[in-house]
Amino acid sequence: PLTAVINKNGELEIGGCSVTALVEQFSSPLYILDETTLRQAAQQYRQSFQTHYPGPSQVIYASKAWSCLAVVAIAAQEGLGFDVVSGGELFTTVSALKQLGWDEAEIAEKIYFHGNNKSVQELQEAIAVNCTIIVDNWLELETLSKLAANSGEPVKIMLRLTPGIECHTHEYIKTGHLDSKFGFDPNQLEAVFTYIAEQPALHCLGLHAHIGSQIFERQPHQDLGEVLVQWFAKGLTYGLPLKELNIGGGLGICYTESDDPPSIEEWAQAAALSVAKACDHHNVPYPKLIAEPGRSLVGSACVTAYRVGGRKVVPNIRTYIAVDGGMSDNPRPITYQSVYRVALANRMNDELSETVTVAGKHCESGDILVKDVALPAAEPGDILVVTATGAYNYSMASNYNRLGRPAAVLVSQGEANLILQRETYTDLLRQDCLPNRLLS
Ligand code: LLP
Repeated sequence: PLTAVINKNGELEIGGCSVTALVEQFSSPLYILDETTLRQAAQQYRQSFQTHYPGPSQVIYASKAWSCLAVVAIAAQEGLGFDVVSGGELFTTVSALKQLGWDEAEIAEKIYFHGNNKSVQELQEAIAVNCTIIVDNWLELETLSKLAANSGEPVKIMLRLTPGIECHTHEYIKTGHLDSKFGFDPNQLEAVFTYIAEQPALHCLGLHAHIGSQIFERQPHQDLGEVLVQWFAKGLTYGLPLKELNIGGGLGICYTESDDPPSIEEWAQAAALSVAKACDHHNVPYPKLIAEPGRSLVGSACVTAYRVGGRKVVPNIRTYIAVDGGMSDNPRPITYQSVYRVALANRMNDELSETVTVAGKHCESGDILVKDVALPAAEPGDILVVTATGAYNYSMASNYNRLGRPAAVLVSQGEANLILQRETYTDLLRQDCLPNRLLS
């Protein structure tokens, strides 16, 4: 959990920095990323797999949760690899790793490229980096086998399959059920194995599946481990050089008091043991076990700070207080009905004297960050924080209503460093073109 304390002025401090002071210095809305929390989560993942899995393991960061140079750099320093799903995430990751001084071989080994509709250009970029490409479907397999034949070097691939495992999470973030847009249907796998066995340019290193996100049960990943090992054993009989098994990500985090996910260690242990047991059962060597968490690495490590503006009282119904951001910096409430916790960072010791609904500033009624929460009586200028905003907030942020994306700072031991600049009006116009004929 966050390295947060309440200081003697009753202000929230994260990573040794007062949130109030951070907002004064960097303005608002502001993403505040606690370096210690992120590093600890990464360490827990690595240690848990090392402790509970008898074979080699690699944790890779699902960079879709928050991809930027600083976050990639921290994950890299903690020994994580990377799941990227677009040319842009690949570019960001490779840029950060190069700046850290990684050589080409290390970069190639640590990056896995996902996606259900990678463009030919993206595939070529992945081949140029020589990372592993997680093949999602037949069209991609055929395209890749042509590109690989032309490139001269064998291309490393893994196969994504749809394991047919249901889990309890929001409809939009389930991916393992059979009616999913991702991955090969298990019925196709033997045909795929046969095809790949005849493609010397494709080096099939393993199998992958991801069943969904914000999952609180352990059973689905245990089941997944078994299903994957079963197919792994089958793939070996086709002579494929399989040696890696990727169980995806998906561990949920606490957004509110009622959320009760397993710990990173409990989750990793359950998954690791089920894979190891299935390997023993099928008498196959332990593959390198890969997990690719996103949310549970970065989610709890960040809060978003806003300035409170005006209030609207609808008598006998509701009191709204408005903040200076909203669905553009956190689209999760409007997209998935996600619920968050809030606090007034400059008045942490004040009594929770009213129930309010926190509204964003966008021109849309649904732009509500949190409904009916207890807070001290908020006044204009107070600083409101929403917690656990590290995952899928900045990465899904937009410029709706032409708001610039917020700045982000990294805090640690009383030091704050800018990691993302606030977008300015000039930034907003940077991609705009005004054709000459509109001016005449
Ligand atoms: N691997 C694959 C192939 C994925 O598709 C995902 C997430 C992950 C790993 C990481 O899953 P995590 O550990 O973060 O649960 N925007 C949604 C979440 C979408 C998740 C997409 N895939 C949200 O804000 O809840």
